[in-house]
Amino acid sequence: MCGIVGYTGHEQACPIIIDGLKKLEYRGYDSAGVALVTSRGIKVRKKAGRIANLEESIRGERMEGTTGIGHTRWATHGSPNDLNAHPHMSMGGQIAIVHNGIIENYAELREELKKDYGIEFISDTDSEVIAQLIGVLYEGKLEDAVYEAVSRMRGAYTFAAVAADEPEKMVAYRKDTPLIAGIGRDCNFIASDMTALLKYSSDIYLIENDEMVVCTPDKIQIFNKDRKRMDRQVLKVTWSMEDAEKGGYQHFMLKEINEQPRVVKETLERRLNADGKIHLDGIELTAEDLSKFTKIYIVACGTAYHAGLVGKYAIEKFARIPVEVDIASEFRYRDPFVDENTLFIAISQSGETLDTLMSLREAKSKGARVLSVVNVVGSSVARESDDVFYTWAGPEIAVASTKAYTTQLICMYLLALYMGTLRGTITEEYCDTIIGELRQMPDKIQQILDGSHKIESIAKLLYNRNSIFFIGRGVDSAVAYEGSLKLKEISYINSSAIAAGELKHGTIALMEPDTTVIALATQDRLFEKMYSNIEEVRARHAHILSVVKEGNKMIRKVSTDVIYIPACADEVTPILTIIPLQLFAYYVARERGENIDKPRNLAKSVTVE
Ligand code: M6R
Repeated sequence: MCGIVGYTGHEQACPIIIDGLKKLEYRGYDSAGVALVTSRGIKVRKKAGRIANLEESIRGERMEGTTGIGHTRWATHGSPNDLNAHPHMSMGGQIAIVHNGIIENYAELREELKKDYGIEFISDTDSEVIAQLIGVLYEGKLEDAVYEAVSRMRGAYTFAAVAADEPEKMVAYRKDTPLIAGIGRDCNFIASDMTALLKYSSDIYLIENDEMVVCTPDKIQIFNKDRKRMDRQVLKVTWSMEDAEKGGYQHFMLKEINEQPRVVKETLERRLNADGKIHLDGIELTAEDLSKFTKIYIVACGTAYHAGLVGKYAIEKFARIPVEVDIASEFRYRDPFVDENTLFIAISQSGETLDTLMSLREAKSKGARVLSVVNVVGSSVARESDDVFYTWAGPEIAVASTKAYTTQLICMYLLALYMGTLRGTITEEYCDTIIGELRQMPDKIQQILDGSHKIESIAKLLYNRNSIFFIGRGVDSAVAYEGSLKLKEISYINSSAIAAGELKHGTIALMEPDTTVIALATQDRLFEKMYSNIEEVRARHAHILSVVKEGNKMIRKVSTDVIYIPACADEVTPILTIIPLQLFAYYVARERGENIDKPRNLAKSVTVE
């Protein structure tokens, strides 16, 4: 959730660290700070709020030091104020640390350090314990103290530390939350996320769980928890710096919405041969494997979970295998039926969502085959899966996920079609037809984007509503959940989604004049049923914004406003239906003056439970 950046080299570390932190601000933005190792000890500056506040607070100050660590925080223990911001220092100022994750036994360690060493804590955080613990254990070699400290800590944590007496060294330890080391020219880096380093390094080492990385300006060394030196291959990063910048758009979210034609095409083309047939190169999935699976679980969180709902629809329709979709935080704790005949599909943009990762481990420990749909190459979910189906969305910076979702849908459709052909539950002709439909998606998404001014004007009319409902039937109901999540997370309008047929079982009680209902009615097969549901809310004088395929004239009779998506097969509508909903959420939030890319209380990558 938080972001870590460290630099050691021959340049001034502070501007490089701050620049890296800005790229990570989307991961957490309650407070930020930096620690520099100077000839007169460690200098720490930290500030509540955005990185701009930190910059402002050090303006005009000499921030010297060629080794340093920085942090941007998403508060878990202790409110977001200056004192709780990272870096934290040991009493006496010998050690500084920045930390991602949670130290579960921090209360116990805190008491011990107070009692045995007379340590006075100055923050409310669990993280300060790391600095104080390393501080009392330090005898001149940072690695030794870090090893000793981690042997006493419990939880999911990754941290970086510097010591005043070792001015050219950074030591970082990874436990369950991401860590990479970047190779520079006469300098080296550490970071929790590769976006922080895109400007400086495209050669990185992925640090594995329970490993320590020791960086000096001329070398990076990786050790396992038994202090054995580890060899690691260099990973070439293909994302460019431009991918992680706004490129003239007012917000990352708008840029990412507009990137969808390109990334959908990329994700699709990477899995299609010249003859248009799907290939799963690198993923072993045979007819025999498929006949063995008695159960498929799709497990994910948030938007990725919503992609899973569409995935269930596609797999059940094309491959005729029953699928259960579960929210990762629920799956973990409900003792699910998983064995070696289970296919477990994890979906995650970041590949670092802790609940998803833990569910994956749980499924794997029970013998399931694990396939993941992931955006970030080398992320934990990707590394721990038997097979990975990558989305080619490029870096997604806005907290509200958009292009990751549409590319996840593409992966799920391709997977489902592949399974269906292997099992013989669909004909080749049918498969080719759906692939043909998928191939038209980039152009059709572009058509919707080109007409975004209409959605903008509707948003201008509806932006001050107190609550907005999303309804739909069949696969439209899955998209309704995603549309509603998009709206609430960035506009803070109270919104809920409901399968339209369920309205009469309770939610319709909330309908009154001027209630706003967004009705997704793209399924030809279910249109009449959906039409009746819209009638039901219209009878309560709700304001109805319908989303239908172009050519549908009937809908006008029951709608206040209509948004058309290009005609396509019912099976693939989610890829188009979500686009106006993303745009609607964006324009509503912009009209309300909200902080679109960094909505309150949220972080991009949720690496805590
Ligand atoms: O990185 P992941 O896909 O695993 O993240 C899952 C959710 O945290 C994420 O989709 C979240 O719901 C987004 N803020 C939604 O826009």
